Amino acid sequence: MPKIAIISPSIRNGRKSHRIALYFSNLLKGMDIIEHEILDLLEYNFPLFNERLKYIKSPSSEMIGFSDKIKSADGVIIITPEYNGGYPASLKNVIDLLTDEWRRKPVVFVTVSNGNFAGSQVITSIQFALWKLGAMTVPATLRLPNIESSFDETGSPADKTETDKRASTLVKELLWYIEAKKRMFGIG
Ligand SMILES: Cc1cc2nc3c(=O)[nH]c(=O)nc-3n(C[C@H](O)[C@H](O)[C@H](O)COP(=O)(O)O)c2cc1C
Repeated sequence: MPKIAIISPSIRNGRKSHRIALYFSNLLKGMDIIEHEILDLLEYNFPLFNERLKYIKSPSSEMIGFSDKIKSADGVIIITPEYNGGYPASLKNVIDLLTDEWRRKPVVFVTVSNGNFAGSQVITSIQFALWKLGAMTVPATLRLPNIESSFDETGSPADKTETDKRASTLVKELLWYIEAKKRMFGIG
C-alpha cells in the first residue's frame, strides 16, 4: 500500500490552509488503498534553520522523526499557501533541513490562498526548490482559491463533487509517479 505524507506548513495564528491538509486526509481515507499521515509543521515547531540535518551533531528527535517520515513516504503532497508571492518560511525551513530524503521522492503541490488567485504565483519557486534537491516533482498541480469560504474548519469542501474530482485526479497523478518509480527501481 503506498504511503503518502501530507505536509501542512502554515504555523500562522488562525491559519486556514490546514483545512486543505484535513481535506486531503479525509479524501485519502476514502481511497483505502493509501496509507497517509499529515506532517503538521505547527506541531513540529522547528527552530529556524541553521544547518542541514546530516551535519547537525545532536539533532532533536523531532528533526529525526520528520526525516524518517519523509524517507519512508512513497510520495508527498505539499499544501502551500502563498505569502507575498512565495511559500512560507516554515516550509523552506524543512526543505533545507533535509537532503537525500527528497532525492527521487515523488512530490505534488497544492497551492492555496484566501484570494481569487489560488496561490498560483508560488508554484514556480516551490517546484524549483524541490527540483534542485532531485525530487520527482509532479507537473500536475491543484490550485485552490478562497479557501476560507470553500472549506470549513474540518476540511469539508463547499462543493464536494467538484473538489473531490479535481483532488482525486491529482492524487492519481502522484500514484502514477510512485508506481513508475517502483517499476524503475534498480535501474540507475
Ligand atoms: C504574509 C502574508 C502574505 C500573503 N501574500 C499573499 C499573496 O502573495 N497572494 C495571495 O493570494 N494571498 C496572500 N496572502 C493571503 C493568504 O492566501 C491567506 O492568508 C491564506 O489563508 C494563508 O494561509 P494560512 O492561513 O494557512 O497561513 C498572504 C497572507 C500572509 C499572511
